[in-house]
Amino acid sequence: MSEYAQIIVDGKTYELPIIRGTENELAIDISKLRSQSGIITLDPGFKNTGSTKSAITFLDGEIGILNYRGYPIEQLADHSTFTEVSYLLIYGELPTAVELAAFQNATTQHTLVHEDFKTILDGFPSTSHPMGVLSSLVTALNAFYPKSTNLDKSPEAINLSIIRLLAKMPTFAAWSYKKKMGQPVNYPNNNLDYCSNFLHMMFALPTMSYDINPVVTKALDKLLILHADHEQNCSASTVRIVGSSQASLYASISAGINALWGPLHGGANQAVIDMLESIKADGGNIQKWMDKAKDKNDPFRLMGFGHRVYKNFDPRAKIIKKAADEVLTALGVQDPILDIAKGLEEKALADPYFVERKLYPNVDFYSGIIYRALGIPTEMFTVMFALGRLPGWIAQWQEMRGNQEPIGRPRQIYTGKTKRVYFPCSQR
Ligand code: CMC
Repeated sequence: MSEYAQIIVDGKTYELPIIRGTENELAIDISKLRSQSGIITLDPGFKNTGSTKSAITFLDGEIGILNYRGYPIEQLADHSTFTEVSYLLIYGELPTAVELAAFQNATTQHTLVHEDFKTILDGFPSTSHPMGVLSSLVTALNAFYPKSTNLDKSPEAINLSIIRLLAKMPTFAAWSYKKKMGQPVNYPNNNLDYCSNFLHMMFALPTMSYDINPVVTKALDKLLILHADHEQNCSASTVRIVGSSQASLYASISAGINALWGPLHGGANQAVIDMLESIKADGGNIQKWMDKAKDKNDPFRLMGFGHRVYKNFDPRAKIIKKAADEVLTALGVQDPILDIAKGLEEKALADPYFVERKLYPNVDFYSGIIYRALGIPTEMFTVMFALGRLPGWIAQWQEMRGNQEPIGRPRQIYTGKTKRVYFPCSQR
């Protein structure tokens, strides 16, 4: 293959370098095209645009492959832990036993948050969505640790911000739920592991401690691993672009949380359950809802189906579907919406509309069913996604800084009015 691509405009040829990744992905480097020709490229939604070179996550959507730092997601989901995967994503290699113990110790020591966070929490009405509360609490970290916003940051100071964020995120996430429930918050218990501590802060009551069930903690840990990174998706790109202005880690991650909230991204896990409940309440007529999803005059889409990058099975969805069966059996939970979900999947995979468009179940299709079985309420599903995605966002932010990437600033093609003369209101 030639090392250059040629673009011919008005008979003039421009040569643009071809970039090859370690998994043989190819890109045409157009970064100098405008300075040479005055022409930009147009790609709404960045469907065909690589925004960076990244060494964190490899994804082949045609085959259905997902690797973190070279390790297949299937191996990590089966054998690793969320803490270990967080270390892998952020620092680039799996930790030794000593490194893992130090990392675990550090992330455990910082779980407590300043008491004044409770005053901030008090200011929210109980109608607040936990995602809005979570992003606000994360951005408030800037106020409690003002040095973290300094532009001149040493690697040690940045690492401390990272550790603080990893440690405090479960506390904020659980507190956003307590706010919703109108219950007093629980303080972290540093004798517990990451997932058990989170579940304790979510569910313990002043009158009753929470019994840790290893089936529940293991399932939660696996879900967090599966959500930990997904290369340049909407929220990761948001984190990188906000961070490219040299905004702080906390500000960048808070922006990522808001990007994740939308129903086309992480909010889909909540939307899937709402959809499955509606189908159930409607008498379980799956075909009717399939027809709605295919009708171009109906805005309804099959939530949890389709993906910008996967044109084959999302490998995470395969793992989650199997885990959903295992967890529900182990916990003795029977959830009728699992059957509706399976029926919907079966019909969609055989329907020409979905087959032609290569629409498969994505990570969000079955995750909500497990969360429900674990006792996690629907409005917390996207918060769970954020908890899992945190190490990925941090890794993306770090990499963007390490690469000294320029401020993110796309161009546009202007289609508005051309220059015209202003008249005061009295003359219009
Ligand atoms: N139901 C019905 N039709 C769909 C769906 C769906 N869920 N997804 C895509 N299509 C159709 C779409 O109408 C279009 O048809 P046509 O070519 O006739 O216009 C075609 O498939 C291509 O869709 P697109 O919207 O151009 O694809 P996209 O890459 O811009 O969007 C997506 C990807 C995930 C936003 C979209 O598939 C979707 O809205 N899915 C439902 C929401 C969802 O489950 N989101 C979670 C994504 S995975 C978690 C994450 O990483 O955030």
